[in-house]
Amino acid sequence: MRHNHTATDLQREHMLNDAQARHCALMHEYLAAEIAAAGWMSFERFMDLALYAPGLGYYSAGAHKLGAGGDFTTAPEVSPLFGACIARQCAEVLSELKGGSILEIGAGSGRLAADILLCLEKLGALPDCYWILEISADLRDRQRRHLAQHLPHLQGRVHWLDQPPEESFDGLVLANEVLDALPVSRFRWHHDRVEELGVVIDQRRFAWASRPASAAMLKACRRLWKTGGAWDDGYVSEYCPRLIPWTHSVTRSLRTGAALWLDYGLPRPQYYLPERHEGTLLCHFQHRAHGDPFLYPGLQDITAWVDFTELAEGARAAGFTLAGFTTQSFFLAGLGVDQEMQTIADGDANRFARLANEARQLMLPGEMGERFKAMAWLRGLDLPLSGFALQDLRHTL
Ligand SMILES: C[S@@+](CC[C@H](N)C(=O)[O-])C[C@H]1O[C@@H](n2cnc3c(N)ncnc32)[C@H](O)[C@@H]1O
Repeated sequence: MRHNHTATDLQREHMLNDAQARHCALMHEYLAAEIAAAGWMSFERFMDLALYAPGLGYYSAGAHKLGAGGDFTTAPEVSPLFGACIARQCAEVLSELKGGSILEIGAGSGRLAADILLCLEKLGALPDCYWILEISADLRDRQRRHLAQHLPHLQGRVHWLDQPPEESFDGLVLANEVLDALPVSRFRWHHDRVEELGVVIDQRRFAWASRPASAAMLKACRRLWKTGGAWDDGYVSEYCPRLIPWTHSVTRSLRTGAALWLDYGLPRPQYYLPERHEGTLLCHFQHRAHGDPFLYPGLQDITAWVDFTELAEGARAAGFTLAGFTTQSFFLAGLGVDQEMQTIADGDANRFARLANEARQLMLPGEMGERFKAMAWLRGLDLPLSGFALQDLRHTL
């Protein structure tokens, strides 16, 4: 079955350029063919294909993604202060281990890697290896170019991986704004029952359609419901069945050290509050955030907030201890963001003023300061981490 959602249709509706409209139409056709074959597609599958389908998905194809010409801006794109603070946290762990390597997952433009490495060099705490596990070929190229330009002398330490390292290593695993891209399952509470929300084609367009929930979904929702409280009829939300398996797979070879996760999200009791009745799906296209995952398939990022309680449960199940959970604001403050401003500004008052503005963007509650959280797991180490010294939110999980 062919769905005639042509490039011209999309271009007229959404003012896409020719290449974007063609890409969107191809992705639409690809998704529609699979939906038509089965009559219905789970949202988890839809999100997976829209982000990762070979050659077409948002992260598999060549869109610009981060920064001014892209779709969204992340903390390392806002300011070098972010990477400098993460480097300080890495230095504490590497110094306790007397060496080690860093595995960064989903390195975006490469800016975080460059900022971390330059700062670790100044601190005399360079890792043996800096691995980048990156799914997007286009972003890998961008990372290589960024690192070649900004730290040519350290390039020999940086290596790109397709899979987590096979061999055990000591050090750190880092991921900033990656967990939010893991595909989620969507559900609705309807007539005192859980329904799974999936995707059908209605008049050539994607539309939501429900099915009775599977046993696995019922089990998951029972846990969410217990912590969140009674939901009204029509309550919609999501959960991420891949969060624990995925975080385990990328930390499996970490013998001794820390895993550091930064992302937007909430502890489960707040995530599933009755008033958050439309869930947390958020799409990004050209710096516009909206809640419609069916718009611009393959051209827009689709994300969901992280359930940090689930992530904490993952730590224990994989033999890590939960070393800290706090807001991005307190994490950066604990790591001495104010001293880093002085260091980076190096006496230049204009530069200092710019950094102060960037720090506000990273740390104010209405900006990135509270929505974004940091969580650390430790394996084989018992070490207080400065990023979590000023505020401990583990009791909220
Ligand atoms: C929102 S960007 C964040 C980039 C960077 N960490 C930053 O803070 O600027 C998400 C990054 O994760 C990568 N990514 C998404 N899913 C991934 C996966 N399953 N495995 C590895 N990388 C992934 C994307 O290609 C991209 O580099």
